[in-house]
Amino acid sequence: MVFSELTRDRARQIIARYPEGRSRSALLPLLHLVQSEEGYVSADGISFCAEVLGLTKAEVGAVATFYTMYKRKPTGDWLVSVCTNTMCGVLGGDKAYQALSDYLDVGHDETTTDGKITLEHAECLAACDYAPVMTVNYEFFDQVNENSALNLVKQLQNGERPQPTRGTRLCTLKEMSVQLAGFADDRGDEVIAEGPAGGPTLAGNRLAERFGVAVPGFDPETPIAKKAETPPPAAPESTPKPASDAKPAGDGPLPQKEAKA
Ligand code: FES
Repeated sequence: MVFSELTRDRARQIIARYPEGRSRSALLPLLHLVQSEEGYVSADGISFCAEVLGLTKAEVGAVATFYTMYKRKPTGDWLVSVCTNTMCGVLGGDKAYQALSDYLDVGHDETTTDGKITLEHAECLAACDYAPVMTVNYEFFDQVNENSALNLVKQLQNGERPQPTRGTRLCTLKEMSVQLAGFADDRGDEVIAEGPAGGPTLAGNRLAERFGVAVPGFDPETPIAKKAETPPPAAPESTPKPASDAKPAGDGPLPQKEAKA
C-alpha cells in the first residue's frame, strides 16, 4: 500500500509537533493516521511509521499490538462494542451482545461480510452508572437492551448515523482516526461534548444528601493543589517497632489491610 500524499503531509505535520530528536513520540498519532487511511494498522502501516520515524518495524509493532484501539486486521466503518463486564452483563449486556452476534452472524472481533460492522465484547467502559452500555466507535449508547441494540445496528446498516446518548456525533472509524491523529473534525456544525453530570452518575450523591451521609470535616471548597504546590511527605518521626513488639491479636478492631502496590 502506498500511502497518499495527504497522509504523508499529515505525518510531516505530526512529527513537526515534537521537539527535535524526540520524533519517536509521534508514534501514537501516526498509528492513528495510518489507520485513518486503511481502516486498520496493516503491515504496510507499520513499515510507514517505522520509515518516517527511523524506528524498526519491531519497535512500531510492539506499540501497535499493545493498544486495542489500533486494529490489526480490516475493521468495519462501525466498531460496535458491547460491555459484557459484570455490571452491564447481568443487567442485559450479555443478552444484547448475543442478539447482535446472532443478527450480524459474527462473533467477537469479527466483521460482517459487507465489511461494515465489527462486533466486539468490551471490558468495563467506565460507564457502569448507565449500564448496560455499548459504544459505536467509542461513542456511548446508554441503558441498551436487545431491541435498542438491534435497532441501533439496523440504523447503521441503513446508512444512518444515530445520535449517541452522550458526547458528540458518530463518525466512521477512519474519520475518528483522523481526529485521534490530532486533526480537527472539519465537518462543521460541531457538537460540543460537554454538560452536567447526569442523574445516574449523581445518584450516590443524592442518596448521601438525603440521608445526611458526609465525610467528617470535609470542606467542598478545598482547592486542589497543583503538583508543584504539594509539600513533600513528612519524614517518619520514629522507626517502626519490630514485629516482636507488636500487640498480639485480640478483641480490638482488625487492622487495615495494606493496599497492594
Ligand atoms: S461494567 Fe459496563 S461500563 Fe462498567
